Amino acid sequence: MPIIGKQVHEQSKTVQWSDGSTTVLPCIMDDGTNILQDDTDSVAFFASLPESNPEMSKHVIHLQYSDWTNKDRQLCDEISAALRVNKAVVIRQVTTPKHKTLNLDYLEDRGMSELMRVVVHDMQNPNKIQCILDVPYSQSGLPLFLSTLDHGIVNAWNQTTIDNPIDEAVHPDNFTVCSWALLHGPAYWTNPHHDSDGGATFIRVETGQKKWGLFKPINEHTAARTNLATMALGLVDLYKNRDDIPANWEAEIVTLLPGDILIQPAGQFHTVYTPVASFATGGHFCSYEQMHLTELSRWIDHKLARTLTNQVHEHSIATFHRMVINLPHISRRIKLYSRLLIALCLMVLDSDKYMAAGTWKPKVKASTTKRAQDIAHTVIKYFWTDIKTATNVFRKKETDGSNNQTHPGELISRDRLLTCLEAFTKF
Ligand SMILES: [Fe+2]
Repeated sequence: MPIIGKQVHEQSKTVQWSDGSTTVLPCIMDDGTNILQDDTDSVAFFASLPESNPEMSKHVIHLQYSDWTNKDRQLCDEISAALRVNKAVVIRQVTTPKHKTLNLDYLEDRGMSELMRVVVHDMQNPNKIQCILDVPYSQSGLPLFLSTLDHGIVNAWNQTTIDNPIDEAVHPDNFTVCSWALLHGPAYWTNPHHDSDGGATFIRVETGQKKWGLFKPINEHTAARTNLATMALGLVDLYKNRDDIPANWEAEIVTLLPGDILIQPAGQFHTVYTPVASFATGGHFCSYEQMHLTELSRWIDHKLARTLTNQVHEHSIATFHRMVINLPHISRRIKLYSRLLIALCLMVLDSDKYMAAGTWKPKVKASTTKRAQDIAHTVIKYFWTDIKTATNVFRKKETDGSNNQTHPGELISRDRLLTCLEAFTKF
């Protein structure tokens, strides 16, 4: 391996992955001992898990971008349908970047500088394994042909300012989470977690490589939400619980190469190994069609929070308010199902139940609170009578007899929804 001794420690070992590829393992020696042995063992375990198979995968839809050129609408529909039923989507070769060396020139081409304020600057030290997660990159975001997936921006923030002008301070995370960049040195291990505040995540490898591991509970169709939370606690402590993982979780590795985009549903537990120096761009987004998954993810964070997520955010309620306020106006192409509609309304009506543990409650009601809650109440009353009944519907066993907390429910008639919200369409 040409990077051993140059970019990673000279005593680094290698591992063969289930797809046949070979990478280095994490290693930092101190006084004759690999102080990253837990990481080394975790990556060796991770490497033994199966590579996602396009024909056989239960949890990942594999697409080739060349099959979808000039079919943006169909592609977005395909992705929405997958995310709604809690599946990830990988789109191969959205671009075909030429190989480029990840150096200062590469970063300056993307607006960065060696003088930039970031936490880490000596990324090429073989005696350290480091990353920069705070690369500011608001200029990127979803590619234009996928941009309508982001209902938080497209519907909530862009389209509600007539009903509710933005006349108060808004947390900047409502916008900055939509687009970021990651810079990793080689052999970087990221422990299992789900991304905070129930957003869907997209990631695009620009240069380098990522081994992206996606985990799904084996008994997802029958497990109660408290069991899902308990199982998640076991997964995120992979150092201790490696031996128990195969009994509880199905896992697939998606190897991401330059030009590939992975989109994972809200609340998806994942782990990542970055074997070589890599630059990746990505972001989080909210979608009406995944609100039932967002609700579950935020509910788990409310119970367990900081041990499970990568970063705790407190901003999302402002986006959910505006998503509700825009309900009378959204395109009929967006498919609204019963459980995701109840989830969105509950998060707006009962927002304290979804604050991640350890975070501060907002002190003052926002200017959007009343209209959002009035609309949410109206929806709940029209379709489910009251919050208690709606909550029961939300948590009951599905018609197929399962107790699947990730089920979207039944398709809601858009005509009925418009009738219900008629009072909120008057100008
Ligand atoms: Fe993550």
